[in-house]
Amino acid sequence: MSRPGDSSFRRPLDAPTIRRTVAALGQGARAERKGQAPLILWMTGLSGSGKSTIAGRVEEALWQRGHHTMLLDGDNLRFGLNKDLGFTAADRIENVRRTAEVAKLMVEAGLMVICSLISPFRRERMLARELVGPDEFIEIFVDAPLDECMRRDPKGLYARAVAGQIPDFTGISSPYEPPEAPELHLRTDAHDVDALAAQVLAELQRRGVVARTA
Ligand code: ADX
Repeated sequence: MSRPGDSSFRRPLDAPTIRRTVAALGQGARAERKGQAPLILWMTGLSGSGKSTIAGRVEEALWQRGHHTMLLDGDNLRFGLNKDLGFTAADRIENVRRTAEVAKLMVEAGLMVICSLISPFRRERMLARELVGPDEFIEIFVDAPLDECMRRDPKGLYARAVAGQIPDFTGISSPYEPPEAPELHLRTDAHDVDALAAQVLAELQRRGVVARTA
């Protein structure tokens, strides 16, 4: 049996054996039935920066407004879809690629998808962006200084990483490339979660994808 990585697994470029099936439903039909503009809210930031907390709060707010949502959390995906991946650069690249492809499918299904994962590399975040339409990807930099994340250390991982017990730890022994031009820049050391979730909602209202009144 061939597996990913085996040369026999790869499709020869000069002899394509698969073709796209044209869906019976037109583009946007599923979202139209849901009465919403599907999109990806891509939250990137250091471990402990507050991504998951804000993502949860934003999803709750969208849900209360009647939207159909899905939350893709990096930690959670690593228990299933991405359980074969670790934290080398190559594994993180694959982790982000898979998550982005799943998010894209969910956009096609008409959902408002919130992705919450470190996603440390600019290039992979750019590739994720390019999978969907220009108005369908909102990059949100969940920003807390490394010192602050280390002080919070909610899972005790920074202490272990500094002690050399966890290799390739983001911010300690593995790089994080902050976004250069995110659609939103949330400073979690300066504002509380309600205020930050409100900033996300305000941006969605400004774009006309969420109603101004609840
Ligand atoms: S990503 O870099 O590939 O996007 P992802 O968001 O899926 O990372 O997973 C990060 C989570 O895994 C962190 O919140 C932390 O709980 C845990 N973790 C375990 N080992 C590491 C590590 N070496 N670097 C960063 N996070 C780690």
